[in-house]
Amino acid sequence: MPHLIELSGIKKSYQLGLTEVVALRGVDLTVDVGEFTVVTGPSGSGKTTLLNIIGCLDRASAGKYVLDGIDVSDRDFDDLADVRNQKIGFIFQNFNLIPVLNVAENIEFPCSVRPGGEDAATLRARVEKLADEVGLKQYLHHKPDELSGGQRQRVAIARALITRPRLVLADEPTANLDSKTSDQIIDLMLQLNKLEGVTFLFSTHDPRVVKHARRALAISDGQMVDGALAH
Ligand SMILES: Nc1ncnc2c1ncn2[C@@H]1O[C@H](COP(=O)(O)OP(=O)(O)OP(=O)(O)O)[C@@H](O)[C@H]1O
Ligand SMILES: [Mg+2]
Repeated sequence: MPHLIELSGIKKSYQLGLTEVVALRGVDLTVDVGEFTVVTGPSGSGKTTLLNIIGCLDRASAGKYVLDGIDVSDRDFDDLADVRNQKIGFIFQNFNLIPVLNVAENIEFPCSVRPGGEDAATLRARVEKLADEVGLKQYLHHKPDELSGGQRQRVAIARALITRPRLVLADEPTANLDSKTSDQIIDLMLQLNKLEGVTFLFSTHDPRVVKHARRALAISDGQMVDGALAH
């Protein structure tokens, strides 16, 4: 089977005034369908830059990126947005929920802004099923400010899955959670990875989170380094 993600020689520089900041120095990486992979590395090593490129939120300065059989290396931002909407779900460090919407509405949101799609009743049934899978069946009508941090991240996870993405990306999804809640969130992602067969790729600083992943990759100063473990 072809790889879901295939990066070769990916480089990324940012221009800061007259200075060029090199964030990625030639990253090669493949991820297969169904994997559950964590990228670790110190602050400034390039994790967010890498996830943004993989998530089609940003473009590499050089190198080739094939996502689910589509070469996205030379696509413009409009094309990237289409690919992103079709294939990728995001979970953010700070949850990024919409405060005026309740749990069900937040989960439903990515579908409600898409043209066409399924009818309201079918969508609502899927929202309720996902809310149940993330343990929030009793909270469908609560607003984000009535939830704990862990519960908010559960909403964000369900929201990332509602569009049935091929790939879920999460940049430091447990950074704002205490260690017990982090464990529960990672376990939940693992469970959903098995249950829904969705590929997860996420970044973390936290060595405790790394232990839960099946595959761990390390990045340092914009390059993948040895020490990656698969278990
Ligand atoms: N928009 C930007 N403009 C200029 N430089 C940037 C920009 N974004 C990131 N960088 C630089 O690129 C490098 C990699 O940053 P990146 O945010 O990818 O690291 P990170 O591993 O996610 O760090 P952290 O763990 O702190 O989130 C750093 O040197 C950073 O200063
Ligand atoms: Mg980062």
